[in-house]
Amino acid sequence: MARKTGLAPAVALIAAGLMVVTPPVVNASPPGTKDVTAVLFEWNFNSVAKECTNTIGPAGYGYVQVSPPAEHIQGAQWWTSYQPVSYKIAGRLGDRTSFQNMINTCHGAGVKVVVDTVINHMSAGSGTGTGGTSYTKYNYPGLYSSYDFDDCTAQVSNYADRFNVQHCELVGLSDLDTNEEYPRKAISGYINDLISLGVDGFRVDGAKHIATEDLANIKSRLANPAAYWKQEVIYGAGEAVQPTEYTGNGDVQEFRYAYDLKRVFNSEKLAYLSNFGEGWGYLGSSVAAVFVDNHDTERNGATLNYKDNAKYTLASVFMLAHPYGAPDVHSGYEFSDNDAGPPNNGAVSACWQNGWKCQHAWAEIMRMVAFRNAVRGQALTNWWDNGNNAIGFGRGSKGYVAINHESGSVTQTFQTSLSAGTYCNVQSNTYVTVNSSGQFTATLASDTALAIYAGKTSC
Ligand SMILES: *[C@@H]1O[C@H](CO)[C@@H](O)[C@H](O)[C@H]1NC(C)=O
Repeated sequence: MARKTGLAPAVALIAAGLMVVTPPVVNASPPGTKDVTAVLFEWNFNSVAKECTNTIGPAGYGYVQVSPPAEHIQGAQWWTSYQPVSYKIAGRLGDRTSFQNMINTCHGAGVKVVVDTVINHMSAGSGTGTGGTSYTKYNYPGLYSSYDFDDCTAQVSNYADRFNVQHCELVGLSDLDTNEEYPRKAISGYINDLISLGVDGFRVDGAKHIATEDLANIKSRLANPAAYWKQEVIYGAGEAVQPTEYTGNGDVQEFRYAYDLKRVFNSEKLAYLSNFGEGWGYLGSSVAAVFVDNHDTERNGATLNYKDNAKYTLASVFMLAHPYGAPDVHSGYEFSDNDAGPPNNGAVSACWQNGWKCQHAWAEIMRMVAFRNAVRGQALTNWWDNGNNAIGFGRGSKGYVAINHESGSVTQTFQTSLSAGTYCNVQSNTYVTVNSSGQFTATLASDTALAIYAGKTSC
């Protein structure tokens, strides 16, 4: 491969012994005009369908993300969903018919569907799967046999070593050899089956453990090259495999965003967020998928989670108001045991019942989805902060948000670029009047926010 100037990262990859493959189609940021995804963690498909109609569509979410649908190992724990044993849709959350119904219903509500896709590995043990498949660790009848797995059967233990990360076993799970033709074909076959049912996008679980050129090859085989593609590549300082390697394939989940929001809300100052995003060394905004928490980090303490109450809500308001990246709103269930699987096997009869937290439907979070849609494409403007934990910023002439994370109330005159008029503050369903100078004065109680946007003049 010819060495070219101005391609330092590519040269570094070549030096590391990798081929750099540029896939023909890159569809990074989620296609469409609505870029927020509600991640309904471990909701069953019938419950997701109802929620698309009742809440997710009307709120303006562009996408709903569902937990892995493939047949998996048995057990009550949530992580059984992340150990597939076949590519039949036969997991805890529902069968092929309920999955298809869910897609049709969500599409009918204007919501596209993203599937959490487990293609790095299969299972750690042997047994009978949720769909009746008998399997052993390296043998999944009709799908994979021992030839299809990587030769390294030790656990991943050294993140400074690319080979170890991408060819050994993540927590002892049999590691598919995605460098070979057959696994690439089988994986793309699974994804194309989901596409044939109408799935619009994929969150690639454990993507860091799959070489980026393997994912590029798999993606090149998709029946819908424009499918949304969101890769879990967890940033680690000094690691051999870096998130930037994957941006040629599609979006990458920017974990630093969530880690930093936790630290800022817990122990620093919101004023520091004035240059949040690329200014903090993150991935480019157009290829970044962001979140306040996900199903792993809400359990491992790396980020805020629902137990943080107002801090969690305000961080979510900030994420949805801020232009950087495409946001995921995680929506899970209460837990004290980190392994505990979903209430009622994923059946949600109603939000805020039986432990279902429904963060996507919290009024302060949900109403920011419409805010975000209204301010789409507008730059961050009119930043204000008090040098401490109260901030405000505009989105061009379309919206303005203020967040008070002080221990007491804050009264401030805010400068916006909005037209004069009366707006609904969607955080509290109260009214705010912007005068002909674009200013308004408001008092925000401790740990509350205010958000107004063009077109939203009545509550
Ligand atoms: C708008 O409101 C601000 C703050 O209350 C005030 O200082 C300013 O003079 C007002 N402008 C006009 C044109 O009324």
